[in-house]
Amino acid sequence: VKKYGISFIGAGKVAGVLSRAFSDSGHRITSIVSRRKENCRELVESLNSTWSSDLSFSDSTDIIVIAVPDDTIREVSCRLRCPEKTIVAHTAGSIGIDVFPPELKHTGVLYPLQTFSPGRKINFRDLPFFIEASDRNSETVLVELVDSLEAKAYFAEASSRRLLHVAAVFACNFTNHMLAASKIIAAEAGEEFSTLEPLVRETILKAFENGPMKSQTGPAVRSDTGTIEKHIELLSFSPELQQIYKQVTSSIMDLYKKKSI
Ligand SMILES: NC(=O)c1ccc[n+]([C@@H]2O[C@H](COP(=O)([O-])OP(=O)(O)OC[C@H]3O[C@@H](n4cnc5c(N)ncnc54)[C@H](OP(=O)(O)O)[C@@H]3O)[C@@H](O)[C@H]2O)c1
Repeated sequence: VKKYGISFIGAGKVAGVLSRAFSDSGHRITSIVSRRKENCRELVESLNSTWSSDLSFSDSTDIIVIAVPDDTIREVSCRLRCPEKTIVAHTAGSIGIDVFPPELKHTGVLYPLQTFSPGRKINFRDLPFFIEASDRNSETVLVELVDSLEAKAYFAEASSRRLLHVAAVFACNFTNHMLAASKIIAAEAGEEFSTLEPLVRETILKAFENGPMKSQTGPAVRSDTGTIEKHIELLSFSPELQQIYKQVTSSIMDLYKKKSI
């Protein structure tokens, strides 16, 4: 497998996990560029790399991975300076390669369909990465990078990748928010969140084994209006949670009214 010199712009959740994974796979992390050194001192030292706040890159960087908030990718890529052959890729699901200025000749997207948080070890084996590239050579290099992690490269038009990102927001971010709500309600009942763990694990396993539509249970799908009304009353300590309960209950009822599902 070919080894590359990779620089990261950003030292947050994605940059931290991806730079360590690439380094473990034998690539060289040539530099980590971020605004504040303190935030990434440990990362830079553990990667035997260097920190910089300067967006100029030399020949030793084959690939620049931009892992900054979505709304700043454009501004950062307009300011960076690199040799013409360098491939510049970002990691955002919702942004296309059209974000890059025309001066950058080799560009791409390297979107990992996973959730990254500090201190979490991620298993990259078979993890889907969605790739888009400006040219054949850049595409080949991005696929090689994904292969080197033993992850899986997929290709998607920017429009489908954006929609997939919305699916990921439902599956990951909204599910997690529901779990946060569940923890708050369990605490009202004087119970630990961990009491719900067997239920949550079975819910996720069943959704993938049997499909989520076949797996739905609960008062909404049964149209148990008496129970639903009692639940809404029990949530009177939080008008916000009452609102979510009503909205999701009505969404479940609407979905299962449609015979085609
Ligand atoms: N987290 C995930 O689960 C996940 C999954 C897939 C894809 N992504 C994508 O990965 C990208 C990075 O996400 P993240 O979660 O790693 O974000 P993050 O943890 O918030 O890190 C963002 C990094 O960008 C730096 N930064 C912020 N504003 C900047 C600016 N104006 N110029 C230069 N650097 C700036 C921040 O450091 P300073 O503020 O110190 O400069 C920080 O190091 C996003 O495009 C996101 O859509 C994230």
